[in-house]
Amino acid sequence: MTSVWVRNIQLSGFRNYSKESVTFDPGLNLFLGHNAQGKTNLLEAVYVASAGRSYRASSDSELVQKGSSYYRVAVDVQRKPAPVTLEVSYSTDGRKLVRLNGTERIRAAELSSFLNVVLFTPDDLALVKGSPSVRRKFLDLEISQVSPAYRQLINLYSKIVTQRNALLKQARERNWRSDSAAASRLLESWDEQLIETGSKITARRMQVVASLDELGREAHYRITGVPGALSVRYLPSVPLSADEQGSTSEATVDWIAERYRARLRQLRKVELIRGVTMVGPHRDDISFQLDGADVATYGSQGQQRSTVLAVKLAEANFIRAHTGDMPVLLLDDVLSELDETRRTNLLGEIVGDNQVLVTSVEPGCRDLMPRGAAVFSIVAGEVTPDDASHRGCSGKEHGQDGIHRPDPGDIRHASVER
Ligand SMILES: Nc1ncnc2c1ncn2[C@@H]1O[C@H](COP(=O)(O)OP(=O)(O)OP(=O)(O)O)[C@@H](O)[C@H]1O
Ligand SMILES: [Mg+2]
Repeated sequence: MTSVWVRNIQLSGFRNYSKESVTFDPGLNLFLGHNAQGKTNLLEAVYVASAGRSYRASSDSELVQKGSSYYRVAVDVQRKPAPVTLEVSYSTDGRKLVRLNGTERIRAAELSSFLNVVLFTPDDLALVKGSPSVRRKFLDLEISQVSPAYRQLINLYSKIVTQRNALLKQARERNWRSDSAAASRLLESWDEQLIETGSKITARRMQVVASLDELGREAHYRITGVPGALSVRYLPSVPLSADEQGSTSEATVDWIAERYRARLRQLRKVELIRGVTMVGPHRDDISFQLDGADVATYGSQGQQRSTVLAVKLAEANFIRAHTGDMPVLLLDDVLSELDETRRTNLLGEIVGDNQVLVTSVEPGCRDLMPRGAAVFSIVAGEVTPDDASHRGCSGKEHGQDGIHRPDPGDIRHASVER
């Protein structure tokens, strides 16, 4: 039985939703609708309830419905030992509130202790094809979902790099590279903070990438059915030996710290010329390879897509391993990108004892859904349980009129109240 799932969501003034309340099924939920009706907005709202912010908006004001002065998203989450209500609201005067059970104010970062989601969108292709910063962000978000301490480490590190860069720029303007003793005195304490915080981050990321490598390879095999081996590797900005890469012990932090220290010494002059910090986790990367070939360079579109799906599934399984609960999976428009085998394999892979919300513009997608899936239509910011969920779409398996009469237990409870 699903252990953590969203029973209901209430939206006010959120994107194209004026006022809407949707009750989900604990298993698979399919949302069908034409373009620009609110499919992505609905998944985005669930994401906001779990992360406290959107993955695609640059500011909260973007989420507020045009003409409204605020947005509010509230979800009822079923979980052990007791259900909770999570609420995120924002008004255009800049006030943002995150609340637990209607009254208790909590920090946005605390939401993920109650609800985790993993989102799949066509834009995820950037994970393979985009810049290293996309991959670092992915990894940092993933680890932060299971470790608040890591989140703090990342925030601290980002401040250290900003400060250190400011100092390097200042040194460049004052031409301190001719007086390296003065520059070193000034940078010393920032170097030590960078090394201490940076080595912890890199070590943790390497550990997580090692588990993504294993989980990703399994997921990739199950989605594609092809025994091409996916591997995920961490590429630190300092060279580490294979032994050091593979190790997950405490000693790793010390090794990395030593490498950072040595590299900073080597780069001192160059950094003073360029005015930026050139080594540290903010310069690290991840690579994906299929049978030893880099997926970004050599992979086909389909291989790149399946790599991304495998890595995302690995992320979901990683979160389950750490929190004990499978996150809610949000699949925005990803089925249409895959061939039939991969679609079916993917659905087989994601549908288990966890909740999944899937969107599609293709009514034919309904035919792919396992029995018991709840189907909804979305039209102009209104969500209705789809009567057509009683029907097949292609009609090919369902008799002449295309009508498939389900068993009474076929469609599980799912309703919309407004
Ligand atoms: N702040 C806002 N206020 C009002 N409407 C908005 C706001 N932000 C977005 N919208 C509108 O919401 C509508 C639905 O957007 P959404 O991205 O959810 O569409 P979709 O159903 O996922 O479509 P597609 O199939 O093209 O991906 C769009 O027409 C968009 O212009
Ligand atoms: Mg969309």
